[in-house]
Amino acid sequence: SLKAVVFDLDGVITDTAEHHYLAWKAIGDELGLPFTRSFNENLKGVSRMESLRLLLSLSKEPLRFTEEQLEALATRKNELYKRLIMEITPQDALPGIPELLDELKRRGVKTAIASASKNAFTVIDNLRMNDRFDCIVDAAQIRNSKPDPEVFLKAAELLGVEPEACVGVEDAVAGVEAIRAANMASIAIGDAAAFPEADLVLPSTGELTVERVREAWERKRK
Ligand code: BG6
Ligand code: MG
Repeated sequence: SLKAVVFDLDGVITDTAEHHYLAWKAIGDELGLPFTRSFNENLKGVSRMESLRLLLSLSKEPLRFTEEQLEALATRKNELYKRLIMEITPQDALPGIPELLDELKRRGVKTAIASASKNAFTVIDNLRMNDRFDCIVDAAQIRNSKPDPEVFLKAAELLGVEPEACVGVEDAVAGVEAIRAANMASIAIGDAAAFPEADLVLPSTGELTVERVREAWERKRK
């Protein structure tokens, strides 16, 4: 039966996907790179350094940055991002998320966060949501980032449940790939056309109810 729901953080629990985008956009503008929202979809769920590599791949001429310069760019993006997430308050949980977490708890379904971000604990602290998850796995606790399933498998392990008894929720293509590789049922939040592989796609977290979670799980298991 369904035992746990494992949530991505950025773009699922709160709209930090937007903050990541704005911070990368500032770096892209400085470098004169044609960084767009649609290209940003590729960066979702992807680690900081891999995101930088993707951003720099937009350059027409090959960019010759040293390792130190790459580190400095990534650090500056993170400084911009950290300034943006300082403003997060409990009001910034995405629609339906607090209600869903309450309802899952009432029904005895466990919950976890599986985030690729090194800033996950800061975001969750600012949301005052530390006590609302049975476990939180962030980038510091894993070696391979999404689309590798490690972060989702680690969450299931810490919860003490089989991945097959979990539903994963994601807003990133790399994230849905990771959920599927972990053999969990998958729910994508976003545009249906972008997630042909997900068991269920919902346009927003406002539609994410226990019934929808169950539906995704049954689609995968039947
Ligand atoms: C993911 C985001 O959750 O974390 C990505 O979707 C981000 O956009 C990644 O690059 C790494 O985050 P951070 O905070 O460690 O730079
Ligand atoms: Mg995300």
